[in-house]
Formats: sequence, C-alpha cells, structure tokens
Amino acid sequence: MNEKVYLNGRYFERNDALVSVFDRGFLFSDAVYEVTAVIKGFLVDWESHFNRLKNSLKEINLVLEIQEKEMFSIQKKLIDVNKVDEGLVYIQITRGVGHRDFNFEEDHFEPTVVIFTQEKKILNTIRAEKGIKIVTFDEMRWKRRDIKTTQLLASSLAKTEASRRGKDDCWFVEDGFITEGSSSNAFIINDNGEVITRELSPKLLGGITRSSVLEFCEKNNLNFKEGCFTKTEAKNALEAFITSSTNFVVPVIEMDGHKIGKGVVGRYVKEIQKLYLNEIQKRLS
Ligand code: PDD
Repeated sequence: MNEKVYLNGRYFERNDALVSVFDRGFLFSDAVYEVTAVIKGFLVDWESHFNRLKNSLKEINLVLEIQEKEMFSIQKKLIDVNKVDEGLVYIQITRGVGHRDFNFEEDHFEPTVVIFTQEKKILNTIRAEKGIKIVTFDEMRWKRRDIKTTQLLASSLAKTEASRRGKDDCWFVEDGFITEGSSSNAFIINDNGEVITRELSPKLLGGITRSSVLEFCEKNNLNFKEGCFTKTEAKNALEAFITSSTNFVVPVIEMDGHKIGKGVVGRYVKEIQKLYLNEIQKRLS
C-alpha cells in the first residue's frame, strides 16, 4: 500500500514508519489517541477532537507542546497525499522511548507522535441503514474511561467475543447500568420519544459525536435527557443507537437476543441520522 504516515516530524512510507520496542506506548500502553472522521477530504469536528486530545494528555501528565494549526495541517497533508475522500485520521501520542520502569518520572522522554489515515466508508453503510445487533458484557475496563488512552484490550476482546456470537458489537454494563459501547456511546429512546444517554463522568468517554447529536437534538426541539439507564430499560426501549466518529449514528435493533422496539430501524433514529448528516455538512473544516 502506497501510503504516507507521519512520525515525529517526518513523513514515511507506511512500512518504514517504525517505533522502538522500548517505546512506552508498546510496553505500558502509555499513550493517548484521537480518531477524526474525514468526509469529502474534510475533517469532522476537528476542534473538539483537538481539545479532547489536549485533555487526555493533561490527564496522564504527558507534556507535549502541540499546536492546533500544526496538527491540523499535518492531517490535511496526509488526507491529501493519501487521497482520502471518506475515512479516518488517527493521532497516536505516546510518552516516548526510555528505560523500562513503571515510574516515568525517573527518565526523560520525548513523546512519539504518529498520525495516519485510513480509507473507510462512513456514510451510507449497511450498518447505518439496517441497524446492528449487540450483546451486553460486564464492564471490565479501568475506571478512567473518560481519557482516550490506547489501552483497548478489554474493548477489543469484548468486540471479538460479540462477533464470535454472531453479533455486531457490545455494550458494557456496570452496577446494572449501561456505560457505553466498545468504541461508541450508547443511546436509547423511551416510549415518550425522549432520547437518553448517560451523563458524562469518568465512567465513559465524552464522545464528540455524542455531544454533536445532543446539540442537534436541542436545536431541533427533540426531547433528550442525560442520565443512567438499565439493561432492562434498554431492552424495553422504543429505539436505540450508538454514536462514534467511525460510524456516526447507527441504530441498534437487537440486544441480548431481544428485539428493540419492532426489531427494525425506527423513525426517531432515522430522523437523528438525517439531522446529524445535514448539520455536520455545514461545519466541515
Ligand atoms: N472510539 N466511547 C468509546 C469507548 C470510544 O472508543 C469512542 C470512539 C466513543 C465515541 O467517541 P467519538 O464520538 O468522539 O468518536 C465512545 C473511536 C472511534 C475508536 O477508538 O475507534
């Protein structure tokens, strides 16, 4: 694949972008990341992704002087040279390379910064049109899910297990309440047509798509509420959906073998999908 990858100030061919085995990203998952959607070569909600990246870095005490403009232009350059019309841009930042030690204050680190693109269909997917089937699993991730770190093993194992069971994805449950999806935020719509998603806390990632959806609901007079909901409430919901930068708004039509609503994509989710797509077209950068 003839594709460029950015690594610490230089652009490499994909197979030549190499990082040391003593990088703390490899040894400790001591790293944070961001994924931004690309539509028609433009980034979706880049500023919000950048702000979340800065926050993730701050939360793990990783000091890096990053400039929004510089990051933006590196991404734009990669989108351009890799000819990405629809897909994703990943920014991965690790604490860097050094002596292997749990205590990272004993050494001096230069952060490793990697940026790469991925061609991917996000609009008009079968998932978005037909909906997905999910299973629930006990929450097994750490307690700071609000930080976007690269410790993704629990999510990866869970998603793989869902797929082994013939399903598309999973939602995590903690103390009886849904936290979020393996790589998405979880929403239900109750009988009153109220859109419900869990309030922000360290228990879940503050999704950029989540916050845009809530903003568009407000703007378009759709009722919504931020709060916890149980597995039973989700099973008995009228409709359900997930949000993420990699899929935007995707309906959930089955959970743990139970149909949600009529087991087909409902009118509220269709309306939210339409709203989301219309609104983000206006703010592509
Ligand atoms: N994941 N919750 C989790 C645990 C996530 O990993 C993600 C995104 C979201 C949705 O966030 P956003 O709307 O900002 O993409 C919620 C990305 C897409 C990933 O790791 O691929």
